[in-house]
Amino acid sequence: MGALKIPDLADFEFRGRKLREYPKEFPNQFPALLIGKIATEHSQENKGGATSLLKFALNLANKLRAKVGCAYLVARVYPESIDWYRQKGFKTYVGNIAERETIPMYLELS
Ligand SMILES: CC(C)(COP(=O)(O)OP(=O)(O)OC[C@H]1O[C@@H](n2cnc3c(N)ncnc32)[C@H](O)[C@@H]1OP(=O)(O)O)[C@@H](O)C(=O)NCCC(=O)NCCS
Repeated sequence: MGALKIPDLADFEFRGRKLREYPKEFPNQFPALLIGKIATEHSQENKGGATSLLKFALNLANKLRAKVGCAYLVARVYPESIDWYRQKGFKTYVGNIAERETIPMYLELS
């Protein structure tokens, strides 16, 4: 398990509302399934491997959701893979991704 840590950004939109609209005592982290990085060896790319792993993680997170309130997947993503994660619905709250080795991204379970 890991956590979605809410950044201290007034404009950050969370569950359809800006953070500044929430009360001060609103929690700043929520249970999440941490998947770290999904990476596919170059020789095996585009064969559905990463999509299968993501489906496995989503299935597991949905099972955990009922027991521990896990409503997110969180990942640390290599810059070159960001678009793949975005296509899967992941978001990031990091504006400037330059010079970062990995970027924190999260997916809200539907
Ligand atoms: C991004 C990454 C996770 C995708 O893994 P994958 O197993 O190739 O992905 P899948 O086969 O499940 O998905 C393929 C789809 O994603 C798209 N895609 C692949 N890499 C992408 C990328 N970097 N950005 C956006 N889209 C990407 C493909 O075009 C394909 O689209 P389609 O279904 O419309 O044809 C993988 O390329 C990766 O790990 N990249 C980092 C490279 C690396 O470090 N590899 C070595 C690790 S040991």
